[in-house]
Amino acid sequence: MAEKSKILIIGGTGYIGKFIVEASANMGHPTFVLVRESTLSDPSKSSVIDCFKKAGVNIITGDLHDHERLITAIKQVDVVISAVGVSQTQLADQVKIIAAIKEAGNIKKFYPSEFGNDADRSHAVEPAKTLFATKAQVRRAIEAENIPYTYISSNCFAGYLLPTLAQSGVTAPPRDKVVSLGDGNAKAVFNEEHDIATYTIKTVDDPRTVNKSVYINPPGNIYSFNELVSLWEKKIGKTLEKVYLSEDQVLKNIEESPFPDSLIMSISHVVFVKGDQTNFEIEPSFRVEASELYPDVKYTTVDEYLSRFV
Ligand SMILES: NC(=O)c1ccc[n+]([C@@H]2O[C@H](COP(=O)([O-])OP(=O)(O)OC[C@H]3O[C@@H](n4cnc5c(N)ncnc54)[C@H](OP(=O)(O)O)[C@@H]3O)[C@@H](O)[C@H]2O)c1
Repeated sequence: MAEKSKILIIGGTGYIGKFIVEASANMGHPTFVLVRESTLSDPSKSSVIDCFKKAGVNIITGDLHDHERLITAIKQVDVVISAVGVSQTQLADQVKIIAAIKEAGNIKKFYPSEFGNDADRSHAVEPAKTLFATKAQVRRAIEAENIPYTYISSNCFAGYLLPTLAQSGVTAPPRDKVVSLGDGNAKAVFNEEHDIATYTIKTVDDPRTVNKSVYINPPGNIYSFNELVSLWEKKIGKTLEKVYLSEDQVLKNIEESPFPDSLIMSISHVVFVKGDQTNFEIEPSFRVEASELYPDVKYTTVDEYLSRFV
């Protein structure tokens, strides 16, 4: 059997990065994480770093902005996965990873920090518009350098939305009233973070995913907001009061909110009103769907996930 690729994760100490590092190590890939010096000495990050070390993960000190260390790290691996954060500068600064990959010349595949909606099919308003445009620019930079890639469109992180049924200002799924953005009929996809990481690592050595977008759209996780609410109502045996905000009202709320609330609201708008996770068909030569590629992965369904809160 071919050896498993060595993987470098940049942004491995972040929210989704931690799941990717864990999956990479558990699935037997020699795993490397680029960590900033300041993070290594940050007490709030010590438990994460200890977990990595226990799992046999190699910690490499470095920074997006330290070209020489980036090159040294990249030369030790076959595949680079970026999970840098959503800030405009972190996403745009991925051009530094692209430059280092080009110079190092040994990388089989690069995964830019995506892990959400398809950046090339966005109907977002600001500030989310700029976020998706930046991700799309990074794609173009990768393609211009002829670096093999996989783009992971993982849609919604379940942990961000299901524990609150996408309601703001609450800490548990509501039991009396829900607010829907728009008519609640646009379909979205909610994936558990371990599953996103497992599917991502499964693609690493899979030739079917080279220069492809991989959509994580397992059939048990595609729900409109109205369907999500009905599922929850069935689980708790109660009908909730429903308030529907018109799209105009949603857009007004985005405009009047300070950043970063406006960013979260504009992402919710594009997911729940515009339906950007499911409102397109893509030619099969470009589209691959993770649960079809890997039917052996037993993913957590939305139904199972919501049962945790009953
Ligand atoms: N689909 C969804 O529901 C959803 C939700 C949230 C995010 N996302 C997407 O997921 C991706 C990752 O976001 P996230 O929220 O997981 O990120 P995050 O928690 O903000 O983590 C960012 C990571 O990047 C690292 N980093 C920052 N600056 C760096 C630098 N100069 N050099 C090296 N590393 C640096 C951070 O290191 P430190 O630990 O040192 O700070 C951290 O590990 C983004 O593309 C985002 O759009 C999707």
